Amino acid sequence: MQMPALPFMPSVKRESSLDKIDVPSTPVLTRRLVGPVELTVVLPTFNERGNVEPLIARLEEVLAGIEWEAIFVDDDSQDGTAEHVRAVGRRKPYIRCLQRLGRRGLSTACIEGVLASSSPFIAVMDADLQHDETQLPKMVGLLQRGEAELVVGSRYIEGGSADSFDKGRAGVSVLATEVAKRVLGVKIADPMSGFFMIRRAAAEEIAPALSSQGFKLLLDMVATSRGTLRVAELPYVFRERQHGESKLDARVVLDLLALIVAKLSNDAVSFRFLMFCFVGLTGVFIHMAALAVALDLGALTFGPAQTLATVIAIAWNFVLNNALTYRDQRLSGWAFVTGLLRFQVICAVGAISNVGVANWLYGYDPEEWWIAGLGGALMGAVWNYVVSAAFVWRTR
Ligand code: GDD
Ligand code: MN
Repeated sequence: MQMPALPFMPSVKRESSLDKIDVPSTPVLTRRLVGPVELTVVLPTFNERGNVEPLIARLEEVLAGIEWEAIFVDDDSQDGTAEHVRAVGRRKPYIRCLQRLGRRGLSTACIEGVLASSSPFIAVMDADLQHDETQLPKMVGLLQRGEAELVVGSRYIEGGSADSFDKGRAGVSVLATEVAKRVLGVKIADPMSGFFMIRRAAAEEIAPALSSQGFKLLLDMVATSRGTLRVAELPYVFRERQHGESKLDARVVLDLLALIVAKLSNDAVSFRFLMFCFVGLTGVFIHMAALAVALDLGALTFGPAQTLATVIAIAWNFVLNNALTYRDQRLSGWAFVTGLLRFQVICAVGAISNVGVANWLYGYDPEEWWIAGLGGALMGAVWNYVVSAAFVWRTR
C-alpha cells in the first residue's frame, strides 16, 4: 500500500544551502560575543528572503552596544529564506534560524521563537523592515531599569503612525482594535502591534495560557495577563514594505473573532469547533436545495436524491472548512482530493452515530423528541469534528 504524502513532507527535494551560497572559509564576525546574550530578537518570516540581510545590517547598527542575537522563525518559505538565514548564521553565530515544516501561523511562530531563546529580554518584530528597529535600544532601557515588563511599539499614540496602510485597511485596523479593547478590557493603545519587547520571566509565565491561533500575539498576551503586566508604550512609524508582500488578508478578522471567543470563554470554547458547527449549518441548507433540485429537475427517486444531496452537502462542508475553519492548514492539490474522500467517509459514519444516539435517547422519552434529535445532531457534529481533526486536517 502506498502511503499518502504527509503534508509536512516537502514535495521538492531542495539543495543544501551550502551548495548555493558562498561561505567564506574563515568566519567573518562583525561582532564578537563577549558576554551572555542580553536581547533576543524574534523575527517571524514567510517568504522574506530579500529582507533578511538589510534587516540584519540594521540590527547590527542599532544594537551595537548590546549583546544580542536574532532568531528567524521561518515557516518553510519557498523562496529560500531559511537557507539564506542559515548561510548568514554560519558566518555570524548570533543569527539563528528556527525552521518549521508543515506549519503556518504568526503567533505560534513568535511563541516558539521566544521559547527558543534564553536571554532576559525578548523582542518580537516583523522581518519586513516595516517596524522601526531604532526603538529597540529604548525598549531594552525601559526593561532594564524595571520601568516596565512589556514595552509595546505603538502606531496609535502621539508620535506613531500607520500611514503606509491603505484607507480600507486602516479603517478595519482601527475598528478591530477598538472592538478588541472594549470586549477584552485591554487598555493599551495598539494591542494589534506586532512589535514589542518583553521580560523573559513574564513571557514564560504567560506562554502556556496563550491561544496560539491566529496572529494577535500581543493582544493575547495582554488579555491573558489580565492587567498584571506593567506595560509601557513607545510610538513608532509603521513603514512602507520594500520587498515581498503582506501575508495577512481579510481572514485575519476571523482570527481576531476566534481569539475574542476563546478569551471570553476562558478557552472553554474552541473557535474551530464553533466554526465547524456554523459550516455544518450552512450545509443543511445546501442539502435541502440539492435535494429539491435532484427530485425536481433530476427526476430522481427519493433514496438516490437524498444520497446525492448528502454527498454534495458533505463536499460543501469540506470546501468551507478547508477555506475557513482550517485556513491555517489548508489542503491543496492531491491532499485536497484525499482529504475530501476521507471527510466523506468520516461524515457517513457520523451520520450513523447521529441516528444511533438519537434513537437511543428517543427510547428513553419519546415525548422529548427534540432532545433526541438535538443529541443525535450534536453527537454527529462532535464525531465529525474530532475525527476529521485527526485524519483530515492534522491539528496540534
Ligand atoms: N513564520 C511565519 N509564519 N511568519 C509569518 C507568517 C506565518 O504564517 N505570516 C506572516 N509572517 C511574517 C512575515 O514574513 C513578516 O515578517 C511578519 O510576519 C508580518 O507579516 P506581514 O504579512 O508583513 O503583516 P502586515 O505587515 O500585513 O501586518 C502587520 O501589521 C499588523 C497590524 O495591523 C504586522 O505587524 C502584524 O503583526 C500586525 O498585527
Ligand atoms: Mn508587513
